[in-house]
Amino acid sequence: MDIGGKSVAEAIMVQGLKKVYKGALGDSVAAVDDLNFQVDQGQIFGFIGPNGAGKTTTIKMLLGLLFPSSGKAMVLGKPAGDIEAKKRISYLPESPYFYEHMTGVEVLDFYCKLFRMDGATRKRRIAELLEQVGLTQDGKRSLRQYSKGMLQRIGVAQALINDPDLLFLDEPTSGLDPIAHKDIQDLIFSLKQRGKSVFVSSHQLSDIESVCDRVAIINRGKLVKIGSMEELLHIGRTVITVTKAKENLSSEVKPLAERVSVDGEFMRIYVDNEENVHNVLDTVRGKCNLVSVVPQRQTLEDLFVEIVREARK
Ligand SMILES: Nc1ncnc2c1ncn2[C@@H]1O[C@H](COP(=O)(O)OP(=O)(O)O)[C@@H](O)[C@H]1O
Ligand SMILES: [Mg+2]
Repeated sequence: MDIGGKSVAEAIMVQGLKKVYKGALGDSVAAVDDLNFQVDQGQIFGFIGPNGAGKTTTIKMLLGLLFPSSGKAMVLGKPAGDIEAKKRISYLPESPYFYEHMTGVEVLDFYCKLFRMDGATRKRRIAELLEQVGLTQDGKRSLRQYSKGMLQRIGVAQALINDPDLLFLDEPTSGLDPIAHKDIQDLIFSLKQRGKSVFVSSHQLSDIESVCDRVAIINRGKLVKIGSMEELLHIGRTVITVTKAKENLSSEVKPLAERVSVDGEFMRIYVDNEENVHNVLDTVRGKCNLVSVVPQRQTLEDLFVEIVREARK
């Protein structure tokens, strides 16, 4: 990519990426089917789709753990699986497995040793990592006593050992309670603030919606939609609520509205486009008491359900 003459490498670039699994009976499934997208550096990119959509398969191809059937995947400017790029990326798998008799500190120490850090470096790094994921107080407890959210946080700490530029988190919020969700969201956001690029998958949009700069929605291996939150979630309708409406106001606004409902002293005017919001406001001015004008933003959840339903037709 070229911005103002300066070359800015994408964190991820995927072109026509495809993975076909061969079944035992000779049948074949396209788990990932002609994906095209890119992720800029420093972005939090949400990768969203129902179970079986092809999220994990895509991540494994980007990590170089699985070979694509066709297409191209570039990570940090290098072909997926390239040794140099691998040193700068990290991965938290869908269901990380830890030895539960170990303490948080012991687990991190084990992984630090894999990176050949000496004793003093390990000690310093482990303290930093525990602090970053909010587990400083719990480092000496065994993982058996950790909640699922704490285990996910230790997983993120482990993924941060090599101070990667790009992190892949596969469904990090799955199965967590709302407080732990929030913790993981905050943690992902703090990674962005530290300049990291994050590729995070989820089957539950609401879990990561608030932290993502851009989102791709996939279903049955195909990209269905991609864009920023603002691009994806158009403002749907606006509800204008008034009281003390003068007689005939309802029939005056009806031609501009999708629907008008009267509930006791409240009159609600549902309008489906911005121009008519202004027209309704002009019409009602001086003829009622304006209570509220509320744009109803579609949620990512709504969009997702709409897309999946559409695909089933
Ligand atoms: N090793 C495999 N062999 C055969 N089929 C697989 C394999 N791994 C995944 N699949 C199939 O590929 C599709 C996508 O799976 P996956 O990438 O795990 O989806 P997600 O992570 O979005 O739930 C599913 O239909 C799944 O059953
Ligand atoms: Mg998966």
